[in-house]
Formats: sequence, structure tokens, C-alpha cells
Amino acid sequence: MNAYGRDEQSGVGVEMASAIATESAVRNGAAPGKWLDAIQHTDCVEGMKQLPDHSVDLVVTSPPYDGIRTYKGFSYDLHATGEQIFRVLKDGGMTAMVIQDQTANFGKSLTSFRTIVDWCDAIGFKLFECVIYRKWGTEGAWWKSRFRVDHEYIPLFLKGERPRYFNKEPLKVPSKHGGKVMTGSGNRRTDGTTTRTVTREINPTKCRGTVWDYLMAGDKNPLKQKHPAVFPDRIPYDLIACFCPPGGVVLDPFMGCGSTAVSAKRLNRHFIGFDICKDYCELARRRLAETMRELL
Ligand SMILES: C[S@@+](CC[C@H](N)C(=O)[O-])C[C@H]1O[C@@H](n2cnc3c(N)ncnc32)[C@H](O)[C@@H]1O
Repeated sequence: MNAYGRDEQSGVGVEMASAIATESAVRNGAAPGKWLDAIQHTDCVEGMKQLPDHSVDLVVTSPPYDGIRTYKGFSYDLHATGEQIFRVLKDGGMTAMVIQDQTANFGKSLTSFRTIVDWCDAIGFKLFECVIYRKWGTEGAWWKSRFRVDHEYIPLFLKGERPRYFNKEPLKVPSKHGGKVMTGSGNRRTDGTTTRTVTREINPTKCRGTVWDYLMAGDKNPLKQKHPAVFPDRIPYDLIACFCPPGGVVLDPFMGCGSTAVSAKRLNRHFIGFDICKDYCELARRRLAETMRELL
């Protein structure tokens, strides 16, 4: 059983709860299980305050990027968000944040870099890695005075000593020379000499690097297209497969149209979601219902 009273193994049993979180409901003893597999319409910091300590395996999220989109009006506090995430994560839990900076007057806002330093120095995370998300399909027309930005960052923040779950197997990529037999020098030692020459067959797949490629408009889902700033479903899918055990709990504090939620259910994990916008919560619930029908 996890902290929400659910079976860790099955990861199933979606409650299509459309309950709107209120502090008073929780003060009056609402079971923590009400948060599980549900999308709550609330500010994420207020929402996370209701969750128990050490109850979440993985956070996958993407906050608003400075002022690039207005959505339907919001305010958010990345420092307070990081503090709550750190508290609710289990030891060894990971947080993956898809983020990019706004550019104004030929200068970047630096929000992503500031957040990385703040979460590590002031909150206590380690930066496990900073993955580059290479976006395929960015528009080419209006980039007149700067480079066409075709990447975002995915800093991976680790709480504690080492990841509690880390399964790189599903993320492997094809080896260019897979199946061929190659002879070459071994690894270079610190003194510059190399270990002895080896002959071996190249594996068909290899460990993924730190640049991850995704097609931006790959999810041809009409519901998803109603949200102005989404990430491809494949991003949360890969992160969940890698960092959340089967039946574990994935939190997305900025749920948008539910990409993290649907990926969690496709992989038999539980999710918890918040969004400050009522319309987006409704959109995410509809996408989730659609996904659950597909999975039947
Ligand atoms: C970049 S979008 C997330 C999109 C999501 N990754 C997807 O694929 O649909 C950011 C979301 O954060 C929400 N948001 C903004 N401020 C918030 C807050 N304080 N608490 C919760 N959600 C917030 C916005 O309404 C928006 O839907």
C-alpha cells in the first residue's frame, strides 16, 4: 500500500473525481486517497500543502515560461513550488521540469537557470542531469533577429543520495553500427594511455544520451490542441517509465491538458494533478476519460 491507501502493484482504479480541492474538506478529514488519479482545480502550492510528506515517487511538470503565454490568468511561485515538491517527494525521488526562458530585448530571462540554482542551493535538491529537449517542427518564419530556438531544458532534480528507481532500459536508442564487429582501443586512463585493444560486437541499442528528440506536433489530439502550451505525451511517458516504479505515484503541479496524467495511466502508475485554470482541469479530465476508454 502507498501513502494514499492504494495497491502499489496494480496502479489501476482511476477515480474520475472532479472534486475541487478545498482546504476545509481536508481539515474535515477527507482521505488522502481523494487526491489520487484526480485533477484538482487549485493553485498547486495550496494543493500540495494537503499531501503527506514522502508520498510521491516522481514529479513531471512544466510551469508557465515567464510571460510567453497568458493562459487564462495565473500567478505562480517557483520557489514555493520547489519547497512543496521537495517535501512530498520520497527520498530518492526525482523531479523533471520542462522549461525555457522568455527573450526580451535580446536577452534571456534566466528563469530556468535561476530556478536550478535556487532549488539546489536553497531547497536541497541535487541536479542529477540537465537534459536538452530538442524540438522537431518549430516554426521557421519569423526568426529575424535571433536563432530559431529549437530546444528546451529538462533539469532533473534528485532528492537525497541516489535515485530510488532508475530504469534506463525503455529509453535505449538504436546504435548506428549495431550488429557489426569492431576493433578499437579501449578506454583512456587518467594518465592519457589507453587500455588494450578490444574486438567486440556492437549492441543493437545503446544508453540514451542527454539530448532527447521529440516531435512537437506529434500528438494529433483535438482536446490537447485546445491548450496553448503543451509538451508531447512522449516526454512524461519516457520519464515515468524511467523514474517511477509500477504502481507508483507521479505528481504534476501544472497539469495543463493532462499529458502527465494520461501517460501515467498508460504505464499503470497513479497520478496527482493540479491546475489553477478550471477549463484546463476539465480538458484534462476529458482527455483522461478518453485515454481510459482506449485502455479498456
Ligand atoms: C506549460 S502549461 C502545462 C502544460 C502541460 N505540460 C501539458 O502538456 O498539458 C502550464 C500550466 O500551469 C497552469 N498554472 C499556472 N499557474 C498555476 C498555479 N499557480 N498552480 C497550478 N497551475 C498553474 C496553467 O493554467 C497551465 O495550464
